[in-house]
Amino acid sequence: MTPSAVGVSWEAHAELVVVGGGVAGLTAARAASLRGLRVLTVSKGGPTDTATQYAQGGIAVVAPDGDSVTSHVADTVAAGGGLCDEPVVHSIVTAGPAAIAALTDLGAVFDRGRDGTVARTREGGHSTRRIIHAGGDATGAEVQRALGAAGLPVLFGATAVRILTDRRGVTGLLVLDGRGLGVIHTPAVLLATGGLGQLYACSTNPSGATADGIALALHAGATVADLEFVQFHPTVLFASGSVGRRPLISEAVRGEGATLRDSRGESITEGVHPLGDLAPRDVVSRAIAERLALLGEDHVYLDARRIENFAERFPTITASCVEAGLDPAADLLPVAPAAHYACGGVVTDVHGRTAVPGLYAAGEVARTGLHGANRLASNSLLEGLVVGERAGIAAATERGALRVEALDAAVPVRPRLGRATVQQVMTRHALVVRDADGLAAADAALSVADMQLCATETDIEDAALTVTARALVTAAQRRTESRGCHTRRDVPESDPAQASSITLGLDGDGVLSVLPPHPLASHTFGPQLTGAH
Ligand code: SIN
Repeated sequence: MTPSAVGVSWEAHAELVVVGGGVAGLTAARAASLRGLRVLTVSKGGPTDTATQYAQGGIAVVAPDGDSVTSHVADTVAAGGGLCDEPVVHSIVTAGPAAIAALTDLGAVFDRGRDGTVARTREGGHSTRRIIHAGGDATGAEVQRALGAAGLPVLFGATAVRILTDRRGVTGLLVLDGRGLGVIHTPAVLLATGGLGQLYACSTNPSGATADGIALALHAGATVADLEFVQFHPTVLFASGSVGRRPLISEAVRGEGATLRDSRGESITEGVHPLGDLAPRDVVSRAIAERLALLGEDHVYLDARRIENFAERFPTITASCVEAGLDPAADLLPVAPAAHYACGGVVTDVHGRTAVPGLYAAGEVARTGLHGANRLASNSLLEGLVVGERAGIAAATERGALRVEALDAAVPVRPRLGRATVQQVMTRHALVVRDADGLAAADAALSVADMQLCATETDIEDAALTVTARALVTAAQRRTESRGCHTRRDVPESDPAQASSITLGLDGDGVLSVLPPHPLASHTFGPQLTGAH
């Protein structure tokens, strides 16, 4: 085939390209394929290099007894610090049981109790035991296995470089793989690239969580919101000086009775929140950060010694502890907060539609309004399943025409700093507790990024981290209050006048700007956007 785009070594055609092979991506790809769409999924890593693979605790889904949609919605909204879009929460929570039934039909096996019914645990912010799990603490791995077994075509080792658009919307995706630069001609791209944990030195996310989808969407003209709300998981296994992915100790461990203590043996959360160690995640992480600052220390302890059959209930965590020379049945486990989840992301409706015709996003990369300022535990796999499915259906229903034109397939030139530099800046100045001086220092340090050619996977990841860090810091500077996961030491109170999302976009010159507030009250876009699809 003669390439129609200058400078590319290969070309392909698809009716939908899904970027990312985790829960949202594979669910979307399957939903669209089942409806007859020619779908190609591209993924940077291998089949299990996804954040989904590492998800432990489970999936929050309304239990058949003693629970209700109203209760799950109320818990989600309470955790979300006043920024959840309630119709969105209702829509996604309501769809949970059907999404689990579909996954079970596909072969996913969830843990059962002695009575044979699906076992449910509790995590922070939940008023009841509604979290279903698999393999004890290997829920994500089971979801990944079941979706992977569906046998969808995935191009592994392929990095999305740039979304190609014309004035009518998406026309293709520039991709880098072992063959070199290629173009996939397509009228629809669905971003399911996961999160941005690699903005920070320590994260529960895999090394590929470099905010790629945020950058791809911004450069394609979509908007992002709520980026300042990075959720730091309170109990990540601590090791002095370590950088990169760290083992998570699931909140379900506290759900089963473990408690948090400081080096003096004192509780961290007593008197802080009525739910104590099972308070929403932002509350617990903040309480730990404040205690550590007070004591001048770098970790606290999780006491899980009273949990019976720990190794059987939490095999993945046990393996991580053993590797670190710890025995959860006998030792206190050193833990500290680490970057875990992006509550914000690419602005979409509950069908994954963005403001750019033909561009969809689902899963952690997207901001539907479900999480608000702080995600409720185990609502992420739920959202990936529900919105992934809906986005796949939307892409199939709104099937665009392929427009194969002479394309500008040049690799982008973008501001970029190295990953280590971005991590240093963000870890120093934009961690759990922030202030104006630190954020100004971060802004200054990130602004010196030079424009550079992005020709390799590393370049593309670094540029994505750089633009996302700049956007996050811009939003964090703008939000002069404390709310959800965004804590400002200099303004500790929430300001009712700031109870709306901060939405950002990139202009044609690559300049970030704050856009008018996103209409939180609507769970589908206004007519100006729905009309575009
Ligand atoms: C955990 O198991 O604590 C994490 C689950 C989640 O991120 O919701």
